[in-house]
Amino acid sequence: MTTLPTIFTLGDRSVKRLGYGAMQLAGPGVFGPPKDRDAALAVLREAVALGVNHIDTSDFYGPHVTNELIREALHPYPDDLVLVTKIGARRGPDASWLPAFTAAELIQAVHDNLRHLGLDVLDVVNLRAMFGVHGPAEGSIEAPLTVLAELRRQGLVRHIGLSNVTPAQIAEARRIVPIVCVQNHYNLAHRDDDALIDALAAEGIAYVPFFPLGGFNPLQSATLSAVAARLGATTMRVALAWLLRRAPNILLIPGTSSVAHLRENLAAGELVLPDDAIRELNGIAGRAVAA
Ligand SMILES: NC(=O)c1ccc[n+]([C@@H]2O[C@H](COP(=O)([O-])OP(=O)(O)OC[C@H]3O[C@@H](n4cnc5c(N)ncnc54)[C@H](OP(=O)(O)O)[C@@H]3O)[C@@H](O)[C@H]2O)c1
Repeated sequence: MTTLPTIFTLGDRSVKRLGYGAMQLAGPGVFGPPKDRDAALAVLREAVALGVNHIDTSDFYGPHVTNELIREALHPYPDDLVLVTKIGARRGPDASWLPAFTAAELIQAVHDNLRHLGLDVLDVVNLRAMFGVHGPAEGSIEAPLTVLAELRRQGLVRHIGLSNVTPAQIAEARRIVPIVCVQNHYNLAHRDDDALIDALAAEGIAYVPFFPLGGFNPLQSATLSAVAARLGATTMRVALAWLLRRAPNILLIPGTSSVAHLRENLAAGELVLPDDAIRELNGIAGRAVAA
């Protein structure tokens, strides 16, 4: 059994493959303040204390809530901490998610993220496409990406990534500016991006699955439960260990509002999945693809 890589080079930064996604720290529906502010701050501090150096966030979580929590909990930031944010959406007063793709909105979003996080430069900014309601959909991203590339040229952004995008949009983007990561929906049961992940791995581009545990309705599967029981691990830990094994360019940002869940998730790196378990887990999405 081979040892899995634990580190990935994201742009000019080195990150551990097990990171943390901050979205769950905002209030219900990712809107408004957390139920328990001290508990939210404790999760962030524990993540960094346990060695996390890659945190995913956005100013449209709350809005502004998770960025402000990150700043309060962790600023001044450890040198090795990489904060990845995303722009391209805004929240309506009714908590709806609306596109924010005009030049003025994108420029404003970068400045808002800088201010709320207390930074002079953002390490990585993902442009979040908003063409499809339920997932990526075709449409040119040239105009918004050109705006973001100009902000990078001005030194406000170090690296650019994409979220909720198709292979054609990634190809279009790479003709405009280097892309260091892609953040799409992917997990044990939702494997539309299998081929894309392998293509990005060959190019040294990180693939950062959102909803790695299934999102708002965490994964449930009899096969997953059986494998987890046999290995003496929890289902969530197995789901994350499977992702780590799936491809070396996969970086994990599981979200949680609980310190206990955070600890459990970060322990996924120590769980070695035997080949027969991998085969069974691949069957959940009906794929024979070797992980
Ligand atoms: N680019 C995009 O469009 C996009 C979209 C969605 C999310 N994201 C990013 O991706 C990150 C991850 O996605 P996510 O947080 O939505 O979904 P997720 O990581 O798949 O799952 C989070 C859910 O799983 C629960 N959970 C976490 N650890 C658990 C454990 N050990 N045992 C049992 N339940 C557990 C959480 O509840 P508890 O709080 O109770 O632990 C929460 O309900 C987000 O934080 C965000 O940064 C990006």
